[in-house]
Amino acid sequence: MFSLENFDIKLNTEYIGRNFIYSEEIDSTNTFLLNKGNKFNTDGTVLLAEKQNKGKGRKDRIWYSAKGQNLTFSILLTNKKSFQKNFNLINFVASLSVAVSIENLYQLKTELKWPNDVLINGKKVAGILLESVSQGNKIERLVVGIGLNVNQQLFQGTFNIPPTSLRLETGENIDRERILAEVLNNFEEIFERMSADPKALLEDWKTRCRLIGEKISIIEGENVKYGIFDDLDSDGFLLLRTKGKIEKIHFGDVSVR
Ligand code: BTN
Repeated sequence: MFSLENFDIKLNTEYIGRNFIYSEEIDSTNTFLLNKGNKFNTDGTVLLAEKQNKGKGRKDRIWYSAKGQNLTFSILLTNKKSFQKNFNLINFVASLSVAVSIENLYQLKTELKWPNDVLINGKKVAGILLESVSQGNKIERLVVGIGLNVNQQLFQGTFNIPPTSLRLETGENIDRERILAEVLNNFEEIFERMSADPKALLEDWKTRCRLIGEKISIIEGENVKYGIFDDLDSDGFLLLRTKGKIEKIHFGDVSVR
């Protein structure tokens, strides 16, 4: 059982998670918060679900997570001023918050995989899915969905990247309230830093990305591209060096060649 009291004591934020919704079961925390028809519009609202029936992953994949063992939650952002300019960088804010939180609490080394996976020892511990609703060309509401494997020990199915959990990596049962509060505390801090200094955010993110400078392949829909992961541009897009040319990649699954 998730203890709201224990979580609340550890939450240090001004607005992220101050409006907190807890659900036993839902289709997807992202889908729910994205829907303008629901009554929740407060900037920073967090919805945590013990189980999702239709948990969504990137590229229309399904996100499976054992009931009550992990953290599947979404953060709603409605303050347009705060994200209009740096919309794409929020992926980096989210993955960095998770990585920093894991390092702070468990002294584990994390790795970030473009665009937004968090790995430990080459295995995926967290995935992030950003979704938004626009009116004209303006984003109205933005939802940052985070799936963090906490206490699950068995994973069934086939995976792009093998999964792991904090329990498997530390050998200890993990306090979900503590890690959720830590992620939200770091999210707010890093999100504020992003507006002040977006360049520093990307530099920080890059220090945890092992693939920069490496030969990689990228699967972009039906296409596979090969090259060297040269750098990230100021919006966080991947710059791929191929035969003296630099190509900007907007999305895709990256692997080492
Ligand atoms: C991925 O790596 O493919 C992204 C996974 C994102 C999963 C989270 S769980 C909470 C939120 N609600 C969803 O339906 N998906 C995200």
